[in-house]
Amino acid sequence: MFLKKITLTINGVDRMIICEPEKDSLADVLRRIGLTGVKVGCGTGVCGACSVILDGEVVRACVRRISSIKEYSEITTIEGIGTPQHMHPLQVAWMNYGAVQCGFCSPGFIVSAYALLEKNQNPSREEVRDWFQRHRNVCRCTGYKQIVDAVMAAAKVLRGEATVEDITFKLPEDGNYYGKPLVRPAAPAKVCGLADYGEDMAMKMPAGTLHAVIVQPKISHHANILRIDTAEAEKMPGVVKVVTHKDVQGTNYLNLATSSKRSTSTQPAHIIFAYDKIYRYGDSIGAVVADTEENARAAAAKVKVEIEQLPEYLSFLDAVMPDAIRVHEDTPNICVVQPVLKGAGLEKPAAVGEIIDKADFQVEGSFYSSRQPHLSVEGDTVQAYFDAEGVMTVHCKAQVIGANIQNIAKAIGLPNEKVRIVMNHTGGSFGWSMNGASYAIAAACAMAVENPVALHFTYEEHQLFSGKRSASFSNSRLACDKDGKIVAAQFDIGLDHGAYQDAESLVNRPARFFYFPYNVPNIAGLSRLANTNQTFGVAYRGFGAPQAYTAGEAMMDMLAEKAGVDPFEFRWRNIARTGETNINSYPFYEYPMEDMMNKMRPLYEKAVAEAKAADTPALRRGVGLAWGGYNVSSGPADSAKVAIELNPDGTFTKYDTWQDVGQGGDIGSLMVTLEALKPLKVKPDQVRLVQNDSGTSPISGSSSASRMHFMTSIATKLAADQLMDAMKKADGSWRTHGEMVAEGIATKYEAEHSNTTFEGLSNLDPNTGIGNPTPAYNYSLYLAEVAVDTASGKTTVLRYTCVDDVGVIGNIDVLDGQVYGGNSHSIGFALSETYEDPDEHTNLYKAGVPYIKDIPDEMPIIHLENPRKENPFGSSGASENYQSGGHVSVINAIYNACGVRIYDLPATPEKVKAGIEALAAGKKIEPPGPYFLGSDLFETLEDYLANPV
Ligand code: FES
Ligand code: FES
Repeated sequence: MFLKKITLTINGVDRMIICEPEKDSLADVLRRIGLTGVKVGCGTGVCGACSVILDGEVVRACVRRISSIKEYSEITTIEGIGTPQHMHPLQVAWMNYGAVQCGFCSPGFIVSAYALLEKNQNPSREEVRDWFQRHRNVCRCTGYKQIVDAVMAAAKVLRGEATVEDITFKLPEDGNYYGKPLVRPAAPAKVCGLADYGEDMAMKMPAGTLHAVIVQPKISHHANILRIDTAEAEKMPGVVKVVTHKDVQGTNYLNLATSSKRSTSTQPAHIIFAYDKIYRYGDSIGAVVADTEENARAAAAKVKVEIEQLPEYLSFLDAVMPDAIRVHEDTPNICVVQPVLKGAGLEKPAAVGEIIDKADFQVEGSFYSSRQPHLSVEGDTVQAYFDAEGVMTVHCKAQVIGANIQNIAKAIGLPNEKVRIVMNHTGGSFGWSMNGASYAIAAACAMAVENPVALHFTYEEHQLFSGKRSASFSNSRLACDKDGKIVAAQFDIGLDHGAYQDAESLVNRPARFFYFPYNVPNIAGLSRLANTNQTFGVAYRGFGAPQAYTAGEAMMDMLAEKAGVDPFEFRWRNIARTGETNINSYPFYEYPMEDMMNKMRPLYEKAVAEAKAADTPALRRGVGLAWGGYNVSSGPADSAKVAIELNPDGTFTKYDTWQDVGQGGDIGSLMVTLEALKPLKVKPDQVRLVQNDSGTSPISGSSSASRMHFMTSIATKLAADQLMDAMKKADGSWRTHGEMVAEGIATKYEAEHSNTTFEGLSNLDPNTGIGNPTPAYNYSLYLAEVAVDTASGKTTVLRYTCVDDVGVIGNIDVLDGQVYGGNSHSIGFALSETYEDPDEHTNLYKAGVPYIKDIPDEMPIIHLENPRKENPFGSSGASENYQSGGHVSVINAIYNACGVRIYDLPATPEKVKAGIEALAAGKKIEPPGPYFLGSDLFETLEDYLANPV
């Protein structure tokens, strides 16, 4: 190893650095000297998280070799721009304009914006967008809109047209905080580069910590393992141990929580280290633990694996063919199903088909939705160690701490109480970090070597290892009468759940959100989950709903056209009105659909007129609509625990595991705590949050299913009421902490809310799909306005409007951030994102992440706020609403623009162009399918009715 000394002028001072000039990147050396505000996400130059300013220019430090940098170059990192005590206006604006969510991208963006404002203090919004596009700054959370807002606000301050105070949210003096844009408690650390994410934690662990990487053979999607040879790897420099399944002291798999009586699954939710079989390309067969990550990686490459190749089933359609072998020997490839029957379908499923046949108008279509990758800017990294009490402590991105503990404990062979999970700052997840396989690997390694371990993944390894949204194939038929009223629908959807059963409750979501929120009197539907050799299906915002809307909302447009009715009017005629039921035969709760459409109607009419006026042969303009909506909570058995404590100084501590994956678990908890303690006139700086550490906080459940705000706010109110009851004196004044202690009154109160306290909730019946698993819904209606370039087939979304109802708003900036972020994922899902080829889709760029110019700057939002009666603050949950049906508004807009109906997502330029050319040649674009999804729909449904479980 040859080292070199170099002096760089970093953040205004000369710093002498010893480095490996041909190996070290600029990011490596900056991070090594403690400037960990330089975040490394992709590590391959495509995300901008590592942006720094080098001699006046923004560079991506992860791909800049130190050897290419001359002595005394001037470098500015986020640490040189501002500190918590002396923030730059950009940092203030980032916090106050909703530009920080997970915050992993924030330092890179702020540095990039700083360089822009050095050159141009008065940029237009488009110039700001051009700048971030050029410098490849990716934000996966915010949808970019609030980031541009923040730059514009900071620029005003720099020009002297506003003060820092002007761009800082002022707390209302009346104590009415709920709904207001209070700043996230973690925001100052995030915008100053001081929030330590996983790799930062790893760097800052004590000397003696070992480093692990997984052994990922990447040689087959499906194979029997004949031999694993670790001999050469064991001899590599620095290697402490090659850990395989033999070293795992537990079951070596994550448990499956079977959720359905029609589940035939006995397989694991995830294998920790594969040993007899490779089930998918990203499987790991072990991990190398060494003194450095580099040595571990070199040794991992020396592990040899001999296999016997098996047939690879890379789509649902292949895995359900009659001659397909089983992916898991003890489980049929179609492993979970959920029927949905309503009206005539309840008597005889085939009767629904007959109604459709006889109706005035009917359409049918088959659709594919892709294996959408989450593409958080931060990948995966985990630390594990035994504490002084012998508790295995795992620092990670856990999104469901309670369940993750149970899973890990069994997998590695420890009792639950001997496993503690602490959540690191998390640079995005959107669902993948619900799965605890990497947490278990880190813990297994630490146990095997009896030493603290930091487990590292490259972004490519993380892409391969983590789950994705399940791809789907669906067939549907829909019919209406001569007045355009829907009379019946049938659907059959197959979800490719990949190699493992991480989240089989997925099967229920299409069975609830097909044709939501319409009144469909007769239904025969079936949702099926199959194992394939793809990477496993895992939670992703919207979990199972987008797959249903992909078909349902396209079919609505198709039937509207067949019936000669405008798509808006057709939806208007068919939305559910008070008393009408959803496809599971239960009423909707709030029926805000008419009000929402009334808000949207003038915007739609204006958009149609504008599109008509601007349409040209070269640039076709179109508008598209789609409904969306989602459930709130994980179902009838869901529960959440929190605690609130009065501190000696009169302040309060709130304890919970509102896991913050960027959505705002900290500010959410603060908002509901302030509201619950309102009679005490508590101010935000009087609440300390102790969160996301199972050693200190009660378990509040998963940050998923749009449940956290709804569930924990009820629990928070219960805890606050108990505390306030205890504090209240007979004369109506409040006891101090000292008085309570003196009187022997407890100062800390834990409370649990369970959905079992609600009457009438039920899981879907496994034979009919009748049931009401949610205590509330959220609703959204989308309008996409697009331009299609007929020469290239490229679609640009010009404006994307959302009208929603998620109940009473908890924090407007945070909620809007969820809307914009969900919009950006929906647009990506519609147009570019995919994970079909693991060798190709290895990073954010290659998997189609939208950059800023792919997302419109105009994203109007109209919130309706019908109070939810089951929540003390009138709120529901929100997040998943915004990634439910919106993507289909883009697909419908493409059709409206150029007549090309895209049946398989994403609508890439190639597909759209091929459609345009086909139409120009006078060819009709026929829908694919119907797909063979395992058996005849009606026969299967009738069999289930005849043989109920
Ligand atoms: S561009 Fe450097 S970490 Fe992504
Ligand atoms: S806030 Fe930008 S990636 Fe999360």
